Amino acid sequence: MATMTTAAARLLLLLVAAAVAVPFCSGADEALAAPTTAIIHELRPRQAALSGQLAARAGIKCGSWRLGVETHNVIGWETVPAECENYVGNYMLGDRYRHDSQVVINEAIAYADSLRLCHNGKEVWVFDVDETSLSNLPYYAKHGFGAKPYNATSFLEYVFEGSAPALPETLRLYHRLHVLGVKAVFLTDRTEDERAVTADNLRRQGYYGWEKLLLKPAAAATGAAGRPQESVVPFKAGERQKLRDAGYIIVGNIGDQWSDILGAPEGGRTFKLPDPMYYIG
Ligand SMILES: *[C@@H]1O[C@H](CO)[C@@H](O)[C@H](O)[C@H]1NC(C)=O
Repeated sequence: MATMTTAAARLLLLLVAAAVAVPFCSGADEALAAPTTAIIHELRPRQAALSGQLAARAGIKCGSWRLGVETHNVIGWETVPAECENYVGNYMLGDRYRHDSQVVINEAIAYADSLRLCHNGKEVWVFDVDETSLSNLPYYAKHGFGAKPYNATSFLEYVFEGSAPALPETLRLYHRLHVLGVKAVFLTDRTEDERAVTADNLRRQGYYGWEKLLLKPAAAATGAAGRPQESVVPFKAGERQKLRDAGYIIVGNIGDQWSDILGAPEGGRTFKLPDPMYYIG
């Protein structure tokens, strides 16, 4: 009897605690602003530029937004929500982006190592360029981490500097594939007029000996005001089909956008690197 009473009391306490932590009847905003019992501390990112409840609130909202982006539930967005600029900045510049990328690349390397390759010179891995092989973080760090509207003019100025650093994790995969005898194909929505600067930039950053660098025809570029409106999926899937028609076997495919990895033939396995700074459909 005494035990049951204790158990019942515990259950009641739990229910009361739950009622305090999850106020179903109030708005979601109030729930987030509620006492710290409602916050999952381990998942709360550090917010250098914000503090206290405001930071916790923005962190949870922006973390959920970022998850929605990565899972391709949040699509077609033009800019990072203004309230998430600091969150995305901290994510990109802090350890988390690197660690998240490490998880992706560790999986990709384990997969590549597990393949029974036939070494016929036709086995390739498709790499996207921007935010996959090369990082434009130096540009985006100066332009609101994607919270400011895309400016094609200033972004192209940056691209033509050819100074984008390699993503270190992707470079690790690239080198591993080279050792395994899987050739690299770069497939990018950069355009033909950017071929020379892109090739130079890639070489300077330690990429070498690739099989192909596939770019969009220059004519496909649209207005200077924004990103191309049409989806890049038909272009990228079409180029992968051409590879296949030419006898290549696409063993793997990696990009930071879903549009890099959607559309048959996708490749033996696809890998999605994080990118909360921009969306390309
Ligand atoms: C876009 O970038 C160019 C070149 O840096 C600059 O002159 C222009 O003012 C920018 N446009 C906007 C809307 O910020």
